[in-house]
Amino acid sequence: MLGLSRREFLLGSAGTLSAFAAGGFAARQAQAAEHALTLSSLDHGILPDTVTKAMMSFAADGPPPVLRLKQGQKTAIEVTNALDEASVVHWHGLRIANRMDGVPYLTQNPIETGQAFRYEFTPPDAGTFWYHPHCNTLEQIARGMTGMLIVEDGEDPGFDKDLPLNIRDFRLGSDGQFIDFYKPRNAARGGTLGTVSTVNWQVEPDFELEAGSLVRLRLAVTDLTRVGTYAVEGAQALVIALDSNPLPSPVPAADITLAPGQRADIALRVPDGEAADVRLVRRKSGGDKVLARFRPAGASARRDLRELKPLNPNPVPEADLNNAEVLDFVFGWSPEGNAPRPSICGSLGYTFWSINRIAWTGDAPGPLDPLATLKQGKSYILRLRNESPNAHPIHLHGVSFRLLNSNKRKLPPLVTDTALLLKEETMDVALVADNPGDWAFHCHVIEHQKTGLTGFLRIEG
Ligand code: C2O
Ligand code: CU
Ligand code: CU
Repeated sequence: MLGLSRREFLLGSAGTLSAFAAGGFAARQAQAAEHALTLSSLDHGILPDTVTKAMMSFAADGPPPVLRLKQGQKTAIEVTNALDEASVVHWHGLRIANRMDGVPYLTQNPIETGQAFRYEFTPPDAGTFWYHPHCNTLEQIARGMTGMLIVEDGEDPGFDKDLPLNIRDFRLGSDGQFIDFYKPRNAARGGTLGTVSTVNWQVEPDFELEAGSLVRLRLAVTDLTRVGTYAVEGAQALVIALDSNPLPSPVPAADITLAPGQRADIALRVPDGEAADVRLVRRKSGGDKVLARFRPAGASARRDLRELKPLNPNPVPEADLNNAEVLDFVFGWSPEGNAPRPSICGSLGYTFWSINRIAWTGDAPGPLDPLATLKQGKSYILRLRNESPNAHPIHLHGVSFRLLNSNKRKLPPLVTDTALLLKEETMDVALVADNPGDWAFHCHVIEHQKTGLTGFLRIEG
């Protein structure tokens, strides 16, 4: 290192990062930030004996890193864009200041090639979250840009280990190369499924875990499209949190439906014997799909699930249902016309979907009209009506909400940021509009999001 300046050292270690990107101001800022992400393209092996070309990640040399933050503690994440296109990073589920939310034009300008943006925020909630681009979202996510973000609670519930599991598909041919990211005819229906299922960018990985120990599995479904039902088999396992919020009473990890954007925290008691076959599976007719395996190793640690302390609830305000105003939203096909506007954040060139009959016209500079304007501090019931025969995981930025009721099923009273609306379902959810700003509100099936099923709510301070 002798004789190299700090700046030259950074350049050298930055891999594919070009000199203009790492030099000067951005590099000096990066030294002070606790976390640094470099949006990069790279070649990486997903299928055995092949190298998938032109993947995209938040690191120059491999899968997106797991970001670990602390609840209530301010953090800085320096994002440098070494892609040859614009991007922006969104922190899914974090109730943070609007200008740090990472939505092009709504909260910030896209980060152009070679530019950096420093995100600074204090996460109010603990739990399992994730991060992803919100610019050219379909292609950038399809190429790999989904990372996990964990916010740690000050109090440790007593796990021996914490294992983030980033669950997603890639659309690859048998040669390991990307095929078309979507098909327009599917985008107008349920969406286009991937061809290769992965966990942490690996096909059916094996995790060796200490026998008899207690492991916190953190599942995040970061896929573009797939709604699935997941289970942990071959061991005692309890779901302790969904979408970052603890369950009042844990339930067996047997049938957990997760849509794109949703998460589940599972307390796993690793079996004692090394012969045990513990699997994370996704339900499938004609035989479940194994996504990952967990292998007990060594002498048993002899732990017991009952030793775990319950998770602390997050400080999400409770809506005042007696004084809440009802806001109606209808999710459906788009009316005729209205081709999306061209955008440096990409457009699929089609409009299929709408919210309240209005199709999002693309990520373009404003002014843009909100779907609704809410007053800071007031309680609201959002009445979400899906008039289509397809499911839509509806996601709201900046604010968490509680599930109230549905015309189709009994809903658990969960607090979430992403609610799966089934075919022709109408669901009421409640929130307190406590975070001022313009908050994106969209379906998390990215083909739907990018073909009209997007809008935003304005919370006026
Ligand atoms: Cu994870 Cu606007 O989304
Ligand atoms: Cu989000
Ligand atoms: Cu949708």
